[in-house]
Amino acid sequence: MKTQVAIIGGGPAGLLLSELLHRQGVDSVVLEARSRDYVLARIRAGVLEQTTVDVLRDNGLGERMDAQGHPHDGMRIVWAGRESFFIDCQKHLGNRFMAYGQTQIQEDLFAAADRRGARVLTEATDVRPMDVEGDKPHLLFRHNGEDLRLDCDYIAGCDGFHGVSRKTIPATHLREFEKAYPFGWLGILSRTAPLPDVTYANHPRGFALASMRSSTLSRYYVQVPLEDKVEDWSDDRFWSELTARFPPEMASRIQTGPSIEKSIAPLRSFVAEPMRHGRLFLCGDAAHIVPPTGAKGLNLAVSDVFYLARAMAAHYHQGSDALIDGYSAMALRRVWSSVRTSWYLTNLLHRFPGNSSFDQRAQETELDYLKSSAHAQASLAEQYAGIPFEAAS
Ligand code: APR
Ligand code: PHB
Repeated sequence: MKTQVAIIGGGPAGLLLSELLHRQGVDSVVLEARSRDYVLARIRAGVLEQTTVDVLRDNGLGERMDAQGHPHDGMRIVWAGRESFFIDCQKHLGNRFMAYGQTQIQEDLFAAADRRGARVLTEATDVRPMDVEGDKPHLLFRHNGEDLRLDCDYIAGCDGFHGVSRKTIPATHLREFEKAYPFGWLGILSRTAPLPDVTYANHPRGFALASMRSSTLSRYYVQVPLEDKVEDWSDDRFWSELTARFPPEMASRIQTGPSIEKSIAPLRSFVAEPMRHGRLFLCGDAAHIVPPTGAKGLNLAVSDVFYLARAMAAHYHQGSDALIDGYSAMALRRVWSSVRTSWYLTNLLHRFPGNSSFDQRAQETELDYLKSSAHAQASLAEQYAGIPFEAAS
């Protein structure tokens, strides 16, 4: 088999890259290790920045998002016994957000790939990137019991944090930055009407978040110790813990119901630099992980892919490699901006085990400052909205 860009991983990064390349006249093949059903069953993030919404709309992927998603203007913050305040990105920047699940985006991407007869090989195992430093890069893999080879000009590693792409880069060429947080998020999805705003709560019992996927689907999270297991958390225990962390008048407006998904994820930040080695380019979770606070993970996957598709189009159509050569630095500028924002929000909103009374007062003072200062709110709005894409030149 032969293609221009061989894509490892059919998550949101890999499938979106394939779609953007196709729309710009560049051929690709996607190799995904898991089955389509497995990939579609994953429940993940769901708040899209304006830039992400624009990329989806501009590439024929906006129809269901616009019909079912929940547009909103920013985030509400509330903490122990105080009145909440709203960080209004629409007011400060003219940007909006869309609550729309990554699960739905994944479905929309598979549907678009089917419509154009894209080459997406699922259950492609044992994928090995070869000769990424030379000029005959290719992938070796197994599919339907056969050993196969895919020749290409470039390889895009869109295979998530545990994928093979990053691991093929020699340690001497890679710098890794990492931070682990001493807690996780327990999340549930329920068929209940959500609160009107995405609302973050800092409470002595721990962080809580009220979010949504649509007008009839809610997503809620509570901060839990790393040792907790999903089995420890009945629906009843979850709802009573969640509502205890919101002020009574907000808690009374939370509609409870059976959970349709429940999972625990640890929080961590991770960045690998550079995001290119020879003819191999990393995109999305393969290169970086953010804690979920601020919902930046999927949005970063989209900005990486946007930059890489544009760079590939310039290579094939204008014969210019300037964007390919600038890809890693350009993508990393946006990555670090969002890594910093999610680190800031994580520190601002969680209760850290073992924090001193000094740390606690400093956190409360920061929240007071944010609540009282229009400048501080404008600054957070700018970070929460995500920085605009850089121009091509
Ligand atoms: N060969 C082929 N495919 C692989 C391999 C491999 N060796 N290793 C992993 N994969 C596949 C996974 O099965 C998965 O479907 O790569 C895909 C990676 O998808 P994600 O983990 O979803 O990562 P990404 O596409 O970068 O999505 C960005 O945004 O909301 C965040 O973390 C969340 O997944 C989300 C991410
Ligand atoms: C979500 O809806 O899953 C979500 C929303 C906001 C966040 C994190 C996750 O900051």
